[in-house]
Amino acid sequence: MSNPKIILTGDRPTGRLHVGHYVGSLKRRVELQNSGEYDEIHIMIADAQALTDNFDNPEKVRSNISEVALDYLSCGLDPEISNILIQSYIPELTELTFYYSNLVTVSRLQRNPTVKSEIKMRGFNTSIPVGFFTYPISQAADITAFKATTVPVGEDQLPMLEQAREIVRSFNSTYEEVLVEPDALLPENQACSRLPGTDGKAKMSKSLGNCIYLSDEPEDIRKKIMSMFTDPNHIRIEDPGSLEGNTVFIYLDAFCKDDMFAEHLPEYSCLQELKDHYQRGGLGDVKVKKFLYQVLMEELSPIQARRKELEKDIPAVMEILRQGSIAAREVAASTLDDVKRAMKINYFD
Ligand code: TRP
Repeated sequence: MSNPKIILTGDRPTGRLHVGHYVGSLKRRVELQNSGEYDEIHIMIADAQALTDNFDNPEKVRSNISEVALDYLSCGLDPEISNILIQSYIPELTELTFYYSNLVTVSRLQRNPTVKSEIKMRGFNTSIPVGFFTYPISQAADITAFKATTVPVGEDQLPMLEQAREIVRSFNSTYEEVLVEPDALLPENQACSRLPGTDGKAKMSKSLGNCIYLSDEPEDIRKKIMSMFTDPNHIRIEDPGSLEGNTVFIYLDAFCKDDMFAEHLPEYSCLQELKDHYQRGGLGDVKVKKFLYQVLMEELSPIQARRKELEKDIPAVMEILRQGSIAAREVAASTLDDVKRAMKINYFD
């Protein structure tokens, strides 16, 4: 048999998932799942990682486990094919982290761009919790425990992947070839890779209040779209508008398919025509925003309908997570055995 193709990816359960998660990774996961090309798919709800910067707010992490699971299932992840698991249920991951931490220097962690920017964002300054500081090592354990070959993630996770690959190379050359070097799989289009917040700020974040959640009520989504950041110099309809940093058009790049015009905005045949008109002048923001609302709801309505159904039986959702975690633990335990054998700490084999 050729080498198995294995996917692992995940999310921190710190809030409901938003449309940035959706175009940046969730949608792709479902396509990969349905492609039938993968031998195993593991989707991790990374609660232990969420606690590295929310250790004083366990209720937040706990309550978002089922929210994230509901988002997964309503987007089309099928637990028969994609194994959904809870990170903290698998102590083997913590053991792997401990052994891998011998292979990583403090200065290497300090150079990790994602860690750097998160330290700044959270205002840790010099009092950085050790658990937070070392989470890239734990993320390498998440990935390698499943011998993942493919990690579908957003661009912001690339430094984590690079660090995981280094750990794999270091482990394999120091001990034995047991770990698999993973590849990141990025979204195909630029807009999907980095969907900005509704205020035009670089990233959607709950604390900035600039997210559109998958489970937002349609009326709230409409309001959020109507107040979206566009081109501040596009004051009168006749003025030429700019697409640069124009959130509404970035969202259209991520969500709009040309065949949506026929139903929702038949004066245009494709997105390029709409953009050309906007840049020429004579096209108002409100019209574009109303179209974006239609486009977004076309994608979200079926997801929201499924979510409403699933919400009626939360114990069934938790049971899916329990079964997924049990299955995942077996895989991780087998990798840990390989790791311990390679490190010669398998005294009783
Ligand atoms: N760090 C990821 C995030 O913040 C979540 C995550 C945890 C993850 N473990 C992972 C992603 C392993 C990919 C692979 O979204």
